[in-house]
Amino acid sequence: MKHKITLVLFLALLPGFVMATSAEQLFKTAGGYGCTACHGKYAHGGGFVGGNIRGATREKLDIAFKTEPTMLLLATVMDDNKRNALVEHLASLSKMQLLEWRIGESTTTKVVTVKADHRAQLVLFNGTFDSLSLDLSALGAAHNYQIKAYDTQAITWIPKAGRYPLFFNNEHFIIDAN
Ligand code: HEC
Repeated sequence: MKHKITLVLFLALLPGFVMATSAEQLFKTAGGYGCTACHGKYAHGGGFVGGNIRGATREKLDIAFKTEPTMLLLATVMDDNKRNALVEHLASLSKMQLLEWRIGESTTTKVVTVKADHRAQLVLFNGTFDSLSLDLSALGAAHNYQIKAYDTQAITWIPKAGRYPLFFNNEHFIIDAN
């Protein structure tokens, strides 16, 4: 009996899970190089040729496939289902407050603010020539969080009210949640 319930639960949750992973997978691999090549791993833009497309509507996506010379090749392999899945993926990303720290590009202090108790995503870009390690324990992540040279990683968490000061060498990235 218990097994039956577990199985039913599993089957009920499976489609949602597969949808979520496949949309994310599609975003990473579409056309071989993925949307990520131009819009960043987290659709945040991140200094690549395409901008931040979090929360883009189906209409905007269709227009881009028609008018962006760099996206024309992708348009032919993106059917209705795939486009809808991509839009859903972009919508789910847009529900998080986006913070971006490009590490190694300046030595100044940056202060950003977020709404407390709302999911936030900190996108970290390692712009240095070496792997680096950050103490992100204040965000519930590792105290020696590793990022390879030129790689982008993201931390998702729900900030409580307060100040989260992050450091790398003499670079300060301070998150104020209120
Ligand atoms: C070869 C580079 C490249 C790839 C790959 C690419 N795009 Fe784009 N995309 C662009 C450029 C350039 C623009 C125009 C600049 C902008 O609006 O960000 C754009 C625009 C867009 C827009 C319109 C943004 C707006 O505000 O109107 C959307 C939506 C979009 N892309 C989604 C995607 C999705 C989803 C994928 C993957 C299936 C993808 N793009 C793959 C380069 C690319």
